[in-house]
Amino acid sequence: MTKIIIAIDGYSSCGKSTLAKQLAKKIGYHYVDTGAMYRAVTLYLIRNQIDIHHPEMVAEVLPQIKISFGLDEQTQQQFTILNGENIENEIRVNPRVAGFVSDVSSISAVRRFLVHQQQEMGNKKGIVMDGRDIGTVVFPKAELKLFVTADPAIRAHRRLDELAEKGQNTTFDEVLANLEKRDHIDSTRADSPLMKAEDAIELDNSNLSREEQLAWVLKLVEERKTAAGS
Ligand code: DC
Repeated sequence: MTKIIIAIDGYSSCGKSTLAKQLAKKIGYHYVDTGAMYRAVTLYLIRNQIDIHHPEMVAEVLPQIKISFGLDEQTQQQFTILNGENIENEIRVNPRVAGFVSDVSSISAVRRFLVHQQQEMGNKKGIVMDGRDIGTVVFPKAELKLFVTADPAIRAHRRLDELAEKGQNTTFDEVLANLEKRDHIDSTRADSPLMKAEDAIELDNSNLSREEQLAWVLKLVEERKTAAGS
């Protein structure tokens, strides 16, 4: 059966990972959350008190960082592992990770380190990968590229709900400010800024339910698989 690469890019908290996870499960593909990899590097740097404003110091410690993913058998949820430790919860709720991750992901040495690993993960295809540069840098030849957008206020509400579910209390204004700051850094950085690949299909999900969104994408997947197999 023909397997393809599905690249999903877009702004923070616009539902990329929800879509990517649902899609991967439905079609039996591997799912890779590249944002989690940037968050894991950020957590390592924070814990080891590496000054992120000195890229050469950051580059020096990168070989000590091993990132992988595990699957919780009970919940069937994927989790992120940093040097043997499950750090899934911490990279989602630690405000210092959210505060520094955009700066860390602006460091070219960090990007090269992670992009290489991401490309290896996709060498057998059959993968759904989400991030900011998947369709532009990691897999410029991906058979299907999606660029997801949603209204910032809707995104902030979704993120607020997600944090509340994890027991984190914060305000709408704080969440919105963090999102807007990250969007700005992500789309203006010099190395691999967030942008829509020329051949990516834009998906504005502000007014779509998860089910509607998935159905729309599944149709595209079938089309692209057929085209790739012929
Ligand atoms: O998707 P996320 O919010 O977990 O991503 C965290 C940060 O990582 C985000 O601010 C931008 C960065 N990132 C990136 O630069 N490139 C990627 N492929 C994925 C994430």
